[in-house]
Amino acid sequence: MLIKKSVSIRSSEITPRDIYEQRRKFLKTSIHAGIGLATSGLLTTYSPGVFAGYGLKRLKHTKNSRFTVDDELTKYKDVTTYNNFYEFGTSKSSPAANAGKLTTEPWSIRVEGHVEKPASYHLEDLINENALEERIYRLRCVERWSMVIPWLGFPLAELIKKVKPTSKAKYVEFSTLYRPDEMKGQRRSVLDWPYVEGLRIDEAMNPLAFLAVGLYGEVLPNQNGAPIRLVVPWKYGFKSIKSIVKLRFTEQQPVSSWTRAAPNEYGFYSNVNPEVDHPRWSQSRERRIGDFFKRKTLMFNGYADEVAHLYKGMDLKKYF
Ligand code: MTE
Repeated sequence: MLIKKSVSIRSSEITPRDIYEQRRKFLKTSIHAGIGLATSGLLTTYSPGVFAGYGLKRLKHTKNSRFTVDDELTKYKDVTTYNNFYEFGTSKSSPAANAGKLTTEPWSIRVEGHVEKPASYHLEDLINENALEERIYRLRCVERWSMVIPWLGFPLAELIKKVKPTSKAKYVEFSTLYRPDEMKGQRRSVLDWPYVEGLRIDEAMNPLAFLAVGLYGEVLPNQNGAPIRLVVPWKYGFKSIKSIVKLRFTEQQPVSSWTRAAPNEYGFYSNVNPEVDHPRWSQSRERRIGDFFKRKTLMFNGYADEVAHLYKGMDLKKYF
């Protein structure tokens, strides 16, 4: 599959500030010590410790400075070892422990429902590898923790335009792979598999809605939803469905797995909203992974300017 290919890129294009600084420090020390590592590419491959945890294929991309935040990035290690991916178990450490088994090549996505071009698309036909961008997004989980992640991918709107929804398409439903022999969490009925999520079509077309194929400059680790997952930064994390194999364009509002499991707790919209409590806890504060103190949760996770208009006139207590 195309995006698995190794590409060489300048370190300054892909590297978060702290790692970049560590790398510079390492480079200086190496030079002092007389170790002749001439290029950052070599450093990426050979420096132990500094890049601990890295090692997947790098992806060429450009930074999209329109979609970034000033917040400090969550450490790569936390991003890739503290996960929710129930297909691999329900504890935070299970996905990193069990997702290695997942085969992500070849991968195709079925597009069905109200579209002019329904088909099963090979992943490489849906991705323009030369147009991948990096966006730094906050992700706020319904469980009151949050992270800041440099994702690589492309706007969901691009894929939608390619398959040409008809005027009947009011919603888009996404499904995750169902493969219990590789996804051992699916052997238990914790959720009604496969995992399903949905967006209203105007939400899906909003420029913030993103399909990620990588993070921190590399191909997505399996536990983060390889080879392709959604990132909807103004909604609770569970809307950001992983390892997508199907898009269905519908007239009716889809029923997501979490709504099916507990309709009074997880609504269709699930916009981050500090003013609407979860029935069992307040949503007004959150813990940024890596921080000690909690912080205030922001309306629409801080993306109100971009998305508040989508919900104008709606009672967000009713449409939670
Ligand atoms: N997608 C699938 N298929 N299965 C899941 O269990 N968990 C969701 C979401 N996408 C989940 C999923 C939840 S609850 C969260 S908070 C985010 O993925 C976590 O993404 P991350 O592990 O990459 O941080």
